[in-house]
Amino acid sequence: MSRTKTRFAFVCQSCGFRSPKWLGRCPGCEEWNTFAEESERVISGGSSARPAVPYPEIEDLSLSRIDSGIGELNRVLGGGIVPGSIILLGGEPGIGKSTLVLQAAEELSRQGLQVLYLAGEESAQQIKIRGDRLGLAGKHLFLASETCLERFLEEAQKIRPNLLVIDSIQTVYTESLDSIAGSISQVRECAARLLRFAKGERVPAFLVGHITKDGALAGPKALEHIVDTVLYFEGERHQNHKIVRAVKNRFGPANELGIFEMTGQGLKEVDSPSQLFLTERAPQAPGSAVVGAIEGSRPMLVEVQALVSQSNYITARRESNGFDRNRLSLLLAMLERRAGLHLLGTDVYVNVAGGLALSEPAVDLAVVAAVVSSFRNQPLSAKTVLFGEVGLAGEIRAVSLAVTRIREALAMGFKSVVLPANNLPLAEGVPKVELVGMSSVLDFMEWAG
Ligand code: TYD
Ligand code: MG
Repeated sequence: MSRTKTRFAFVCQSCGFRSPKWLGRCPGCEEWNTFAEESERVISGGSSARPAVPYPEIEDLSLSRIDSGIGELNRVLGGGIVPGSIILLGGEPGIGKSTLVLQAAEELSRQGLQVLYLAGEESAQQIKIRGDRLGLAGKHLFLASETCLERFLEEAQKIRPNLLVIDSIQTVYTESLDSIAGSISQVRECAARLLRFAKGERVPAFLVGHITKDGALAGPKALEHIVDTVLYFEGERHQNHKIVRAVKNRFGPANELGIFEMTGQGLKEVDSPSQLFLTERAPQAPGSAVVGAIEGSRPMLVEVQALVSQSNYITARRESNGFDRNRLSLLLAMLERRAGLHLLGTDVYVNVAGGLALSEPAVDLAVVAAVVSSFRNQPLSAKTVLFGEVGLAGEIRAVSLAVTRIREALAMGFKSVVLPANNLPLAEGVPKVELVGMSSVLDFMEWAG
């Protein structure tokens, strides 16, 4: 027997914190003015227990992945779409989410697989206009403008698609809650139901979610723990290339990257990220260093820029784009104390070119190099790649996958690689490139002259 009762609560639209009364500041996420009243009808009872399954009979669904037809998308997913999995695709408005899912839908349709696409953001006609631009045949693609989740799932039961696309999760609503579509309760409840449907029917689903720069919009962030895979578009909207990163993946490595270029005919895969991230480099400029980074499973050369200038502020500014700001402060303090670089009265800006966010420690040395180069107003040699972790004592520590990084430098025509001395033994024997091993930032200061 099922009972229905209505409950009211104030819910933080940023993090989902619930409170019986309105609060100005959320105790959960410390944001201001995020509480909204939401009523919900709670339907209890009615479902039956699911029997336990013997371990050997559990099917490994990741063995039967669906090829999305887009190499870079398969890569971030860990090798394709796992049946029954829920994939959250988040990003700022206008960054390319709908374009990417529509292209994937077309690729599946070409394989004869059915796709049911919930178009909540745009009308079916608008999607068709985009589709024409992308050269879509859409033979097995069905568009639904139904944003009521219950009715949409009825449709899904009829069509029995191989993939569901919900564009976007903020536009669907379930009848069991009174709160408006896009509120955090709705977004969570809809995602949870879609998850049950997906697991039960073994249909994978893409949930598209809008997210603002600071991640403040209700929804996507609150869904991260519910879904299997979280993909985010990274970087700037106005950039032509688009970076999709897996920040969570139950079916593959997290942190994997897919790189695309937005063209007049949709997203095209980028084969050589290094080439892309180095195209606009001004090699003779002071403050420019190239790091041999590993993002996901792939090496890529990326330009790190620094600008050190006399400060006009009482507290000097330290800004960073694509590199952790606290880490930058730490490296600057280290340079001040261990290398005698007088940075106290200077503003320091660091930027990773191309909108990429680099988080591995191996980037440290390139950041240090760019800062030193800008401070001295002296360019680094243009054909040098650097990598290495830098410690608080100014020591340069070994990093993983040194040979992979060196090979990428070689492939991109670089002549020398500055690396941690402790990485040298493994790296010797890579031909045609000069290896300069260093054990402290003082070695680097001396080498850079
Ligand atoms: P869109 O996928 O609609 O972004 P989102 O769903 O994340 O809001 O479109 C992103 C932008 O890309 C949009 O401004 C138009 C542009 N675009 C192209 O440049 N080429 C194309 O082929 C398409 C379809 C879109
Ligand atoms: Mg869209």
